[in-house]
Amino acid sequence: MKAWTRDAAIALTAVSTALALAACGPGTGNNSNGGNGPEIGLLLPDATTARWETQDSPFFKKRIKELCADCTVEHANAKGDVATQQQQVNAMITRGVDAMVLVAVDARSLAPAVTKAADAGIPVIAYDRLAEGPISGYVSFDGEEVGRLQGRALLRAMGDRADGGQIVMMNGDLSDPNAISFKKGALSVLDGRVKISKAYDTYQWSTEAANTNMSGAISALGAENIDGVYAANDSLAAGCITALKSNKVNPLPPVTGQDAELAAVRRIVAGDQYMTVYKPFRPEASAGADMAVAAARGESLDPVATDTVRSSSGKAVPAVMLTPVSVTVTNIKDTLVEDGVYTVQQICTPPLTSACNRAGLA
Ligand code: GAL
Repeated sequence: MKAWTRDAAIALTAVSTALALAACGPGTGNNSNGGNGPEIGLLLPDATTARWETQDSPFFKKRIKELCADCTVEHANAKGDVATQQQQVNAMITRGVDAMVLVAVDARSLAPAVTKAADAGIPVIAYDRLAEGPISGYVSFDGEEVGRLQGRALLRAMGDRADGGQIVMMNGDLSDPNAISFKKGALSVLDGRVKISKAYDTYQWSTEAANTNMSGAISALGAENIDGVYAANDSLAAGCITALKSNKVNPLPPVTGQDAELAAVRRIVAGDQYMTVYKPFRPEASAGADMAVAAARGESLDPVATDTVRSSSGKAVPAVMLTPVSVTVTNIKDTLVEDGVYTVQQICTPPLTSACNRAGLA
């Protein structure tokens, strides 16, 4: 918070704290670099899903610097813990950041913290996950479309087992609204075609939990009866594939994923995972940064927005909604390599040399 605002707030004893804080405009006080520019809080949900720290965060910070040389980013990662994220939001409010970009660990549990930030005059941009509470903007992908892409790819890979075959469904953590959308989209394609013999919702999107659940499904159904695995993202796919391999399942049934993690792309080249969904990181992070800078400067988000969504209170919120892309071994080059997400050298480790040659990735 800028020094003059703080003094003014103290002087204005008749004004409630909330109103005084709400009066804080774009930051011109000392930021963490000792500069005078706006401060933007970036609150990430966990360190187990690679994308947040390896893709979203660097692209976001780069774009912020391009737009606003004197802006600083306060970075926090809740490591999957709701209470930690609540504390991180509170700390950013106390610090007086000028805008927050939040990937909520649990949308419902974070709603009071979002309200507290808004009451303090700090706009909150919901990033990737639609946070509940009075958010000012939203950037994400069409989650149901992600689920449809996964479902369609799985049916395609199952071939003649796509009608009447059995699958295991490994969904995400339902405290994340995206997990609900992915599941809904996938079911819209899979229902009536395959038999979903086992379905799990995975606490904190944990690879270990997916591994345990997949092992349970193999014991209950028999490996030979599993014709396909719907895994909602690459971390879950990793847990499922490890369970299938340690049960000596060969050949592996097709397994879906999401997030275009480097490990998943390598599994796709090796033939262990059928597909992933690539949600281009750079446009999402850039749109989040565009909104954050506008919000921190006290400007309207409308020029950045291309869409609107309904917040949990039913209010129309400016949004940017991007298009997800299905990636199998046939289009890794045209998508992830072309976009500069990974080089062929990064994907093609020595054990993958011949698989990479077959995939046209040499
Ligand atoms: C979702 C996100 C996915 C995935 C998952 C686990 O909300 O859209 O890309 O990373 O969280 O963190």
